[in-house]
Amino acid sequence: MSTGGYGSDLSFAFAHTPRIVFGAGAVSETGEQLGLLGCSKALIVTDSFLAEKTDMIARLEKALGPRLAGVFAGVVPDPTAPSVDEGADFARGKGADALISLGGGSAIDTAKAMAVVLTEGGKLLDHEGYHNLKRRVTPHIAVPTTAGTGSEMTLVTVITDPERGQKTYVGSYFLHPDVAVLDPELVVGLPPKLTAATGMDAMSHAVEALISSLRQPFSDAYALRAIEITTEWLPRSLSEPGDLTARGQMLMAASMAGTAFSNAMVSLNHAMAHSLGAIYHAHHGTLNAILLPYTMRFFNDVCAERFAMVARAMGVDTSGMSESEAGFSAADRMQDFIAQVGLNERLADHGVDEDGLAKVAEMAVSDGAIIYSPKPVFDTDEIAGLLRQAL
Ligand SMILES: NC(=O)c1ccc[n+]([C@@H]2O[C@H](COP(=O)([O-])OP(=O)(O)OC[C@H]3O[C@@H](n4cnc5c(N)ncnc54)[C@H](O)[C@@H]3O)[C@@H](O)[C@H]2O)c1
Ligand SMILES: [Fe+2]
Repeated sequence: MSTGGYGSDLSFAFAHTPRIVFGAGAVSETGEQLGLLGCSKALIVTDSFLAEKTDMIARLEKALGPRLAGVFAGVVPDPTAPSVDEGADFARGKGADALISLGGGSAIDTAKAMAVVLTEGGKLLDHEGYHNLKRRVTPHIAVPTTAGTGSEMTLVTVITDPERGQKTYVGSYFLHPDVAVLDPELVVGLPPKLTAATGMDAMSHAVEALISSLRQPFSDAYALRAIEITTEWLPRSLSEPGDLTARGQMLMAASMAGTAFSNAMVSLNHAMAHSLGAIYHAHHGTLNAILLPYTMRFFNDVCAERFAMVARAMGVDTSGMSESEAGFSAADRMQDFIAQVGLNERLADHGVDEDGLAKVAEMAVSDGAIIYSPKPVFDTDEIAGLLRQAL
C-alpha cells in the first residue's frame, strides 16, 4: 500500500476557490457569471496587443452588453507596480465594481493587484507580502489567453518594483479570482514560441509543487495530472495550433498546475527564473524551461522518489532502475521534452553571462519562493554553479 510518501504526521490546508467555466466559446458566458457574482459594471483589464490586434475584446463586449464599464489596455509584460496603480485609478474613474482580466499571466496578475488597490486604497506596494489582506478584494473573473501561468487559479500576484529592479508578491486567500473562464478558442492564436514557453511554465509549476516542502496529496494529484497532460498535449498544440482539444487540454493542465502550486508553492527554479526575469527581461516560462532539468538534477539526492513519479508521468518505464536512476531519468526526459517543444535554449541566448551570475544568485536567495525548496538553499555560490550549467 502506498501513501505517496506521507506518514501519520501529515497535515495541510488546501484551497480551490475559483469556479471553472470550461469549453469552446465559454467566453460568451462571462456576462452571466458576472451576474452570479452580483456585479453590474466590469472593467476589462488587458494588454494593447490583445485589445488592438485580436477580436477578443469584441467577444467579451458582446458577452457583457451593458455590464461593460470600460477597457484598461495598459497591461505590460511582467507587470510593474506603477502600471497597477494606473489601472486602479482608471477603474475608479469608470465606477467599476468588478474586473475581468483577459490575457496571459501579466493581465491576470495586473487585475489581481488592481483589486487589492481598489479595495484597500493606497498604492500596490503598500500591500506587498503574504497574508496581509483582511477581506475579499474586488470581484475578478480571469480569462486566460495563454496556457499558461495558472494565475487564474492562484492566490498570488507577481509584480515588478522598478525602483528595486525586483519582482515582489501579494499573496492571500482573498486574492483568488472568483471565476476562471477557460475557452480554448482564445488560445489558438498563441504563437508557437509562447505556446511552448507558457506550457513549460505550467510544467515547472507542477514539478516544483511535487517536490516542494509544502507538498501534500491534493496538490500532488493536480500536479501529476498536469504533467501527464502537458507531456501529451503540448506537442500537439504546437503541431496543430488550431486543435481545440489540444488547446483545451493545455488550458486545463495549466490551471491544474496553478492549483497545485498555489497550495504547495514553487521553489528554487522559480526563484532563479524570477531573478533572471527581473534583470534580463526574458520570458518567464522560457527561463523556467531552461533551468528545470538542472534544478531537477540538483535536488535528486533528496527527491529521487518524487522525480521517479515525474518520469513515469512522462512515460518513462522506470522498472529495473534504482530510485536515484529513476529520478535522474526524469531530468533527462525533461531535457528531451524541452528540445521537442523547440525551447532548446541557453541562458546565454538571453544575454546572461558569467559576470551576471553572482547578482542573479543573490537575488534568488532572497526570493520568497526559495524557502519551499526540498532542501535548504542559501549558498549563493551553489546557486551560481547551478546557473552556470544552464549558461
Ligand atoms: N500569479 C501567478 O500565479 C503567476 C504564475 C506564473 C507566472 N506569473 C506571471 O505571469 C507573467 C507571464 O505571463 P504569460 O507567460 O502568460 O505572458 P504574458 O501575459 O506576459 O503575455 C506574453 C505575450 O503574449 C501575448 N498573448 C497572450 N495571449 C495571446 C494569444 N492568445 N494570442 C496571441 N498573443 C497572445 C501578449 O499580448 C503578450 O505580448 C509573468 O509576469 C509571471 O511572473 C504569475
Ligand atoms: Fe511560473
